Amino acid sequence: MSLSDMTRRQTLALLGTTPLMASTGNGLAQTTSDAEPLKDIAAKAGLTFGCAVSHDLASDADFRALVLRETQMLAAENAMKFGSLRPDATSFSFDTADALVKFCEQNGKSVRGHTLIWNDWPPTWLKQSAARDFPGIMDRHIETVMGRYAGRITSWDVVNEPFHWKDGGALRPGPWALAMGEDYIFRAFATAAVADPKAKLVLNEAWTERSDALGLGTRRALLLLIDRMRDKGLRIDAIGLQAHLMPDQPYDDAGFVAFLHEIEQRGLEIYLTEFDIDERSFQGNFAERDRQVADRAYKFLTAALSVKAVKLLMTWGLSDRYTWWREPSLMQKFGLKRLARPLPFDDTLRAKPLRDAMARTMRERKA
Ligand code: G3I
Repeated sequence: MSLSDMTRRQTLALLGTTPLMASTGNGLAQTTSDAEPLKDIAAKAGLTFGCAVSHDLASDADFRALVLRETQMLAAENAMKFGSLRPDATSFSFDTADALVKFCEQNGKSVRGHTLIWNDWPPTWLKQSAARDFPGIMDRHIETVMGRYAGRITSWDVVNEPFHWKDGGALRPGPWALAMGEDYIFRAFATAAVADPKAKLVLNEAWTERSDALGLGTRRALLLLIDRMRDKGLRIDAIGLQAHLMPDQPYDDAGFVAFLHEIEQRGLEIYLTEFDIDERSFQGNFAERDRQVADRAYKFLTAALSVKAVKLLMTWGLSDRYTWWREPSLMQKFGLKRLARPLPFDDTLRAKPLRDAMARTMRERKA
């Protein structure tokens, strides 16, 4: 059963007991005494604030109004991924990505490109391609996609998640790594630098917010990779750290801030690209869970924003109404019995304590 197949009753059962609040019709449920949009608070703190969006943007007018009010930059949650743009080896499918870029241009928003090369989510035809064909497939993809949007995309995740999800030191397995080894990363950046000289080139990675073996290993491997790329004279402008926070994993502010300083010392910007909070380990009613989420966010963001090189904060979605944590396959995989509440606005588009925590930490930043 998909979520869309669920009856209202089933959905409410998953949500808890609180009935959904009726929409105001203008998308802006009166939710907070804080009338200043996050994007404006962010700008005063020397940051850009944005979020990832999906089909929700076109299909939900209330949500669209919220996104327009709160954010300055959008990224496609899936529409610019290789698997979305490339139905087969010879063609490109740009309709959804084009629509997002046009929407942003018409509404004065900037766009982040996510993502050109990623070992996850490859189409079957790519997995079946011969190793010798990969460099050519990569060049054509990057040149065509970046060329199409040249000058219109502020930053591109050229490579997403280079390292393994179990062992932060090894390359993440997948067709690109299998066919080209680490060279896939170098070639992607070299090609991207030419395809759109104005776009900021970003290496985007997960896990580094954790201080367990995976997080620490990923931090080490990432810094070494940056150094190898610089030794080769490759342009890299920023490191994207996804910041899908997992509060049940070990974390320490000082270690994370020291890692951010290591990136900063290499002359790179830092983007927090996919911020949300996995609140599976939090107990209690909505109010209690939401407070714990807000506390965790405040602590993390206060530490991260103390580093001047951090220039961007994006949430992966904006409202709990649309979050990857609620995708049926994922809920099944993780045995989730309740709907996740990882984002700053709730199902009714009301601001949550998380939104207030984000606003507070940005206001407190010494820009
Ligand atoms: O579009 C199909 C639909 O036709 C089909 O009926 C349905 C069946 O499950 O699947 C739909 O595709 C799903 C797609 O999202 C669009 O909703 C895929 O199953 C699902 O795997 C895919 O998940 C996305 C995932 O990346 C893989 O690309 C998530 O929405 C997206 O939030 C997630 O984003 C990633 C970042 O790119 C990288 N960092 C981690 C982050 C969260 O996992």
